[in-house]
Amino acid sequence: MDRTLGGSTKLRTLGRTGVLVSELCLGTMTFHWKADEATSHRMLDRFFDAGGNFVDTANVYSEGKSEEILGRWLVGRDRADVALATKARFRTGDGPNRVGLSRKHLLRAVQDSLRRLQTDHIDLLQVHAWDPLTPLEETFGTLHRLVEDGAVRYIGVSNYRAWQFERALQLCRARGWNEPVSLQPQYSLHARATEFELVPMCVAERIAILPWSPLAGGFLSGKYVQGVRSPPPGTRIAEAQDVEFYARRFENARSARIIAALDDVARATGRTHAQVALNWLLGRPGVTAPILGVRSLEQLEENLGGSGWALTADQDAALTRASELDVTYPYDLRAEEQQTSDRKLP
Ligand SMILES: NC(=O)c1ccc[n+]([C@@H]2O[C@H](COP(=O)([O-])OP(=O)(O)OC[C@H]3O[C@@H](n4cnc5c(N)ncnc54)[C@H](OP(=O)(O)O)[C@@H]3O)[C@@H](O)[C@H]2O)c1
Repeated sequence: MDRTLGGSTKLRTLGRTGVLVSELCLGTMTFHWKADEATSHRMLDRFFDAGGNFVDTANVYSEGKSEEILGRWLVGRDRADVALATKARFRTGDGPNRVGLSRKHLLRAVQDSLRRLQTDHIDLLQVHAWDPLTPLEETFGTLHRLVEDGAVRYIGVSNYRAWQFERALQLCRARGWNEPVSLQPQYSLHARATEFELVPMCVAERIAILPWSPLAGGFLSGKYVQGVRSPPPGTRIAEAQDVEFYARRFENARSARIIAALDDVARATGRTHAQVALNWLLGRPGVTAPILGVRSLEQLEENLGGSGWALTADQDAALTRASELDVTYPYDLRAEEQQTSDRKLP
């Protein structure tokens, strides 16, 4: 459900919950990693001034320093005005039990996050990824009790496959536990395999989709005009250890088609590539709030302009066509299924 509260700030319900979050979420993975504390705090100030209220972090970003920077910013602010999301699952130190979704590690991770964030509750606690070792009953039973005890308001997951999410959902329903209300998947004009299973599941279950890397790590900003093997200095790809990883991902005909379509639409709309890519994502079914990743105030300012306007249907279709993935069975049945007339109500 969409609601506009004052100014141009658009708020959306977080999936089937009653809590309202801004349709852009501010990611904090760049805090400490790419942006110092003063810059990170200025970005938070600007984001909230612009009407944003939704911030995403994780206990492992810069080994907890992202949460600490955010925590120092939260001091003296009314938590009622901040929708604070974090994650737990990945390794937090040496030793066999400093990783995973066991009750032992989850409870310790939440305790540590609350301390770093200097708060008494997390609005959205997300499981960062699947844990093949811990029974789902243990993980979701623990998450349920965290909500009951008040340390957490809502639970979500990240990087699950659709069958894993659906299994967790059905388990929670059968036990009367608090259900996961959001999914944080990689999703962008570049990463569209998310649409095969995850998006239809989220739409059917009214799960909020919170896309991570909405600009494919900056590739969709259009700044890699020489290709990613010759990245502009000072960019994430120029600073990466493994530039070949990005080359494998981005130096291909489909990526070139996506950038060409972004070139066209950016020219026609007078918007930047990043704004067009974000706007396309905001228009996808089930998407609640793409999570912005920025290293500077300038990038934040630009990316805030990804919302508050709409592509025309033709522009949207051109971007969708240019970024189409090759599909194989069973996903190639989608178009055929849509044409079946014998299961339509007369
Ligand atoms: N759940 C997960 O597993 C997971 C994984 C990854 C991220 N996340 C979440 O998603 C958030 C966003 O991810 P992301 O940082 O990968 O997002 P992204 O938007 O795909 O990439 C962000 C990077 O793109 C570049 N950029 C952004 N705006 C730009 C602009 N206007 N012009 C030019 N370059 C621009 C910047 O890098 P440079 O300037 O350095 O080139 C920036 O750091 C994270 O903060 C985190 O909260 C979650």
